[in-house]
Amino acid sequence: MKLLTNTRVSRAGPGNCKTSRLPRRAGSSLAMLVLVGSVAGFLFSAAYFGASAQSRAAGDGSAELQALYATPEDIAQGRALAKSACAGCHGANGISVAPAVPNLAGQRPAYLFLELKAYQSGARGDNTMSGQVKFLNDDALSKVSAYFASLDPPQSAAVNTVNVAVDPVQAGKAAAVACAGCHGEAGVSTTPGMPSLAGLDPKYTVAAMKAYKSGQRDSELMKSSLAGVADPAIDNIALYYALQKPARSQAPAAGDKAAGATAAASCAGCHGSDGVSANPAFPSLAGQDATYLANALGAYKQGTRMDETMKGLAAALDDTAVKNLAAYYASQEPKQPEVRKPLTAEEWAQKCDRCHGINGNSTDPRLPALAAQRADYLEKALNDYRTGARKSPQMAAMSDVLTDQDISGLAAHYARQTARSAVFVTSPPK
Ligand code: HEC
Ligand code: HEC
Ligand code: HEC
Ligand code: HEC
Repeated sequence: MKLLTNTRVSRAGPGNCKTSRLPRRAGSSLAMLVLVGSVAGFLFSAAYFGASAQSRAAGDGSAELQALYATPEDIAQGRALAKSACAGCHGANGISVAPAVPNLAGQRPAYLFLELKAYQSGARGDNTMSGQVKFLNDDALSKVSAYFASLDPPQSAAVNTVNVAVDPVQAGKAAAVACAGCHGEAGVSTTPGMPSLAGLDPKYTVAAMKAYKSGQRDSELMKSSLAGVADPAIDNIALYYALQKPARSQAPAAGDKAAGATAAASCAGCHGSDGVSANPAFPSLAGQDATYLANALGAYKQGTRMDETMKGLAAALDDTAVKNLAAYYASQEPKQPEVRKPLTAEEWAQKCDRCHGINGNSTDPRLPALAAQRADYLEKALNDYRTGARKSPQMAAMSDVLTDQDISGLAAHYARQTARSAVFVTSPPK
């Protein structure tokens, strides 16, 4: 059920209602487009349209705001255009049934207009839409925007096309249960010969695990341990171990620490002065199990572990030097790498909602609502911002730091939200 009213502007006396939040009586000098959905919407005062408050500066009386002043006749004309030119893809009721085609029903009117202009100018890239709007004038774009904005928004989507987001750290912990027998509870080894994993940079652990899987790094034990572990799980496991508190291995070390410390001077450039590396390409050695360190150096020397850099360096070390270096590094205090725990989709969404409205229900007619939008379209849009295919200074900054997992989590989050139509009560600029 929808009620569409529009009171035409008659510029009455000065100072009349310029900042009213609500129309005082019908026929006052307020122009309003009221879209009453099944839920209460949001109210906007005229002052809101002052240039300073706008995130998308467009000047006074901007063309995109025309859609807010549409009359029932304008909307009827918009509807006729939509039926003939848009419904084939966007659905007769503005609710798309085609992959990656966005829902338009209930979307904010000024936003729709701005995007149509962006397709027209090519600012949104060369795609399906550019051809659809090439020959439409501003008046037609405004009316079709007003029409789609006036429709009931979609029901929140059943999100079965994308994975429901899981907490990567919890997932990593669950997958690492199988590793604890050798690598120790929470990644601190208690078995001579078994490396600790806690406190290693996740980039290094991910690379190590992938090297075992591909056979580039030779270990039957590790190859079979990782046989059933897919790439996303590898990332989660590495993150989980990186976030565990590292501790020195308690297993005994045979060598002479002091002699090792002297010899380690030549290693510091890559592995850090006390074995805490600042570069994930070079593993941290501090607190690592001494037997494992000695075995690794032996393996480089013999060529069973392939690495050009380490092969040359290890070849110069005799057995005593290897033991001493291993004892020295094992005695050093390990340090946790600086790894941030990724935000959950809900935590991210709080940042997004500052612009996109509570649960993605934008209260700014120029900013898109995200609630109940198709998840596949949201994913595409966020990817387009991230790659720069779609340009927006605000969204470039936001999407830069998003991982693939964040994007699918956010898309699923917003697709699930209840969409609310907005009520914009405006008065025209003086
Ligand atoms: C051939 C299919 C097709 C037709 C016909 C079509 N569209 Fe689209 N529309 C798309 C696709 C696909 C996208 C998403 C493109 C992208 O990712 O930028 C889109 C995006 C849009 C957007 C951007 C929505 C947003 O949330 O940013 C608007 C607005 C829009 N269309 C309006 C219209 C209007 C108005 C018409 C009719 C005049 C129309 N479209 C006709 C396929 C179509
Ligand atoms: C049966 C014992 C065993 C199990 C179970 C095991 N590992 Fe290992 N892991 C080893 C051994 C031994 C090495 C050293 C191999 C070598 O010399 O390269 C190793 C090495 C590693 C390394 C490289 C460490 C470094 O400093 O380069 C990583 C990463 C690793 N394991 C991760 C895992 C993960 C994740 C699991 C669980 C999915 C797991 N391991 C299960 C025995 C095991
Ligand atoms: C030029 C840089 C560089 C220098 C100098 C260097 N390393 Fe390395 N080291 C590496 C790289 C790169 C790796 C990882 C290679 C791989 O993936 O197997 C590595 C790996 C290791 C490992 C295996 C660690 C693990 O967790 O599996 C040990 C042990 C090691 N280095 C000891 C030393 C010692 C001892 C010295 C000094 C004698 C030294 N390195 C000097 C670059 C260096
Ligand atoms: C500083 C304000 C701001 C913040 C914060 C913000 N956005 Fe946006 N967002 C915008 C603007 C402005 C646009 C329209 C840009 C354009 O014209 O392409 C937009 C567009 C979008 C679109 C495209 C909608 C459509 O229908 O095509 C998506 C999806 C989106 N934002 C998601 C997000 C997500 C997810 C976050 C949080 C990670 C976020 N935004 C945070 C301002 C913001």
